[in-house]
Amino acid sequence: MKQTIGSIVLIVALMSFQTAPKKQTPTTKPAAAPVNTMQIIMDRGKMVYMQQCLACHQANGGGVPSMNAPLAGAKAVVGKDKAKLITIVLKGMKGVDIEDEPYNNTMAPHPELTDQQISDVLTYVRNNWNNKASAVTVAEVKAVRVKTK
Ligand code: HEC
Repeated sequence: MKQTIGSIVLIVALMSFQTAPKKQTPTTKPAAAPVNTMQIIMDRGKMVYMQQCLACHQANGGGVPSMNAPLAGAKAVVGKDKAKLITIVLKGMKGVDIEDEPYNNTMAPHPELTDQQISDVLTYVRNNWNNKASAVTVAEVKAVRVKTK
């Protein structure tokens, strides 16, 4: 009996030894999970696009012939003049021929969208379909809004 108790104690002792917590390595702050900022902006921009632009410019950005201008491949969309692009969203657009094509629908102004929403949706249209251009920042939208007020 004594021997049995002895071996149980020994076994328990051995087990606790084995499962004893390893010496902690000094904790360094875990690295922040890599966040793909561009993907987040594109996701937000897509939401704005679906609610505010898709009805006219279509899911494929192709617009509607003679009605709504295409955004896919459009110079005004991927061009360097971001202020002009921001102005189009803030002020709307009407009766302008684009690449010699008239579009008969009216693009309503969207001043109710926040600087963030406009920055997101324009970054989205500049980088969706086959478009590829730099992001439009919130600061850029803000600057144009102040100037065109
Ligand atoms: C009611 C329909 C309608 C909605 C909604 C609309 N647009 Fe437009 N958009 C148009 C029309 C029509 C034109 C062309 C106007 C013209 O030719 O004068 C246009 C033109 C544009 C242009 C200029 C294209 C070029 O090649 O010059 C851009 C950029 C644009 N829209 C972006 C947007 C964005 C971004 C949204 C959403 C925030 C949006 N539009 C919402 C109808 C719309």
